[in-house]
Amino acid sequence: MTSERHAASEATDRLPGPIARVRRSKRDARNWYDAFSRWYGAVADPFEAPARTSGLELLAPEPGERVLDVGCGTGTALVAIARDVGPTGTAVGTDLADGMCRASRRALAGAGLERGVVIAGDGASLPFADDAFDAVFASFVLELFDTPEIPAVLAEWRRVLAPDGRLCIVSLSRSGFGPTTWFYERVHDLLPTAVDCRPIYATETLREAGFRVLETRHETVWRLPAEIVLCRPR
Ligand SMILES: C[S@@+](CC[C@H](N)C(=O)[O-])C[C@H]1O[C@@H](n2cnc3c(N)ncnc32)[C@H](O)[C@@H]1O
Repeated sequence: MTSERHAASEATDRLPGPIARVRRSKRDARNWYDAFSRWYGAVADPFEAPARTSGLELLAPEPGERVLDVGCGTGTALVAIARDVGPTGTAVGTDLADGMCRASRRALAGAGLERGVVIAGDGASLPFADDAFDAVFASFVLELFDTPEIPAVLAEWRRVLAPDGRLCIVSLSRSGFGPTTWFYERVHDLLPTAVDCRPIYATETLREAGFRVLETRHETVWRLPAEIVLCRPR
């Protein structure tokens, strides 16, 4: 282990307890988000939008870039990305739930951005070539993968990133653990499918996966701590 990785592990060891496990299957997740896709924007957007917007600010997609939005949901970020990369760029969304993919396609069409592409699939196994993207965005998605799967998921996202590419993660955070997080985790235990985003240690997890963290912003979502992290493959 390099001294830097050793330091990262020690940092993780000092964190306030392990993250919760994911106890629903991917099939449950797909069915839930399919059913939820019609209301997701109205229910979740008022809470999630500020952190997602902050993530897009950090990612700062540029004209001509190739950008992937993993777990694109109803397409709010994907529309913004498609606008930013412009007609010479590529904006691709992918989502496990067909209902979310349809919602994203409608959002792109509604914004007159037919150039955006949406592909249904699992973010853990992407149908793209190595180095296919200049930037990858994942907002409230990394924390949906179970703990043992996260390193492989991040390796997959790094595989499709160009060596000098950027990854931006927006995630509920267990850093700054307190009563609100404690209560939310109890609700997650009771409702593992409906309340499936569970707080993780995003910055430390990205470091341990070998990413170089450029910036972390700490914000709140539903009064819960959130991390917005911009990083690069080393
Ligand atoms: C909490 S929502 C966030 C949606 C969107 N990124 C946003 O910020 O509004 C999580 C999204 O990830 C999708 N999802 C869940 N598991 C996934 C997986 N294994 N691969 C790809 N997408 C997944 C869900 O269908 C849902 O659209």
